Amino acid sequence: MTARPGEPHRLLIRDLAQLVTPSGEGVPLRGEALGEVQLVRDAYLLCEGGLVGDVGRMKDLRLKGDLLEVDGRGLCAIPGLVDCHTHLCFAGDRVDEFALRAGGAGYEELHAAGGGILSTVRATRAASERALAESVTRHRDWMLRAGTTTFEGKSGYGLDRKTELASLRAIRAAGGVPTFLGAHAVPPEFADAPSYVEFLLAEVLPEAAELAESADVFLERGAFGLVEARRYLEACLAFGLTLRVHGDQFTESGAVQLAIELGARSVDHLEATGEDGIRALAASGVTAVLLPASALFLGRSMPPARRLVDAGAAIALATDFNPGSAFCESLPLVCSLAATQLGLTPAQALSACTVNAAHVLGRAHDVGRLAPGFRADCVLLDAPDWRYLSYHLGGDVVSSVVQNGRVAWARQS
Ligand code: NIG
Ligand code: FE
Repeated sequence: MTARPGEPHRLLIRDLAQLVTPSGEGVPLRGEALGEVQLVRDAYLLCEGGLVGDVGRMKDLRLKGDLLEVDGRGLCAIPGLVDCHTHLCFAGDRVDEFALRAGGAGYEELHAAGGGILSTVRATRAASERALAESVTRHRDWMLRAGTTTFEGKSGYGLDRKTELASLRAIRAAGGVPTFLGAHAVPPEFADAPSYVEFLLAEVLPEAAELAESADVFLERGAFGLVEARRYLEACLAFGLTLRVHGDQFTESGAVQLAIELGARSVDHLEATGEDGIRALAASGVTAVLLPASALFLGRSMPPARRLVDAGAAIALATDFNPGSAFCESLPLVCSLAATQLGLTPAQALSACTVNAAHVLGRAHDVGRLAPGFRADCVLLDAPDWRYLSYHLGGDVVSSVVQNGRVAWARQS
């Protein structure tokens, strides 16, 4: 199915039951536009030179010349999914902690006792750079099989110069969009958060800024407070990084206001955000990134998605894939949680993990829609209706994934 080197690459996916793409105008999509999709039945998708060349109805298809064909009968095409919040660069696992939590232990208590994030930091520091790179590609490939064609990856399990930089290199090498999350936790060799932040800014940020596109901070009790978060984010901004904030996961601690004030791309989590935060986000250009798999995995309450949407805020959906709070790489499962737990329609969920997630990553001009000129990234769903993406809870809905106009993964039939 792959073309020979040097051959101009054209791929035609034909006879699709449905082709669906977000069609709302203005990015990030919000309000009515969030739920607007264009649906073409009995459709084709033509990919040329890695980009979408054309989409349309089979009856209008006129083509000449050589091309590779994919049979789309019984399948639905949606844009390749965009996961704008993952922590996929880590070694080891937290299955023991998971079992303890299942038996009643608390996530924050484990963290305070030196477990949690810090146990993954120990494993990640002990791994070679090669092992770290292998773990990133393994996790990326899990994500690809679930339909993710564009992903963000955060550092944050190194917390020292060498491992933070190695993490960012591994994420970049695997094709991810790298985010510097040096301010994820205070490592044990530092007495407090302020001294650790000064170390990060002096010793790690100058090189991290060459590798990363964004910076992120875990603003939460037991992690970083408002003063250190501001200090860290302002310095990262001065180095040209765009900003993200982990905020209001367990407590409302001013993350929304800080993100708005500093012009961050997003504030992520928001399980604890109240009405003032919702109103402030709705009036701002900051996207609310919602992570329902993390709330589910920790048995916490879900973020106020419906109230955010109704107020006019821009939302995106992501997995938060990581070993402690969301060992889940599946955006289709996240779309099911969006419909069943967050009160979002399948169309709103689709826009949230395509166009709006692409916006959070600064790529809305390039990925997230099946329209001429966009990158030819597409997921073929083994379903008679594209809404099975949300409807088939935990289902094996992805039949193949096209990336840059080539079949990157196909389920063995
Ligand atoms: O987004 N909350 C902070 N960071 C991650 C969890 C990391 C971990 O538990 O290893 C999150 O949930
Ligand atoms: Fe996270």
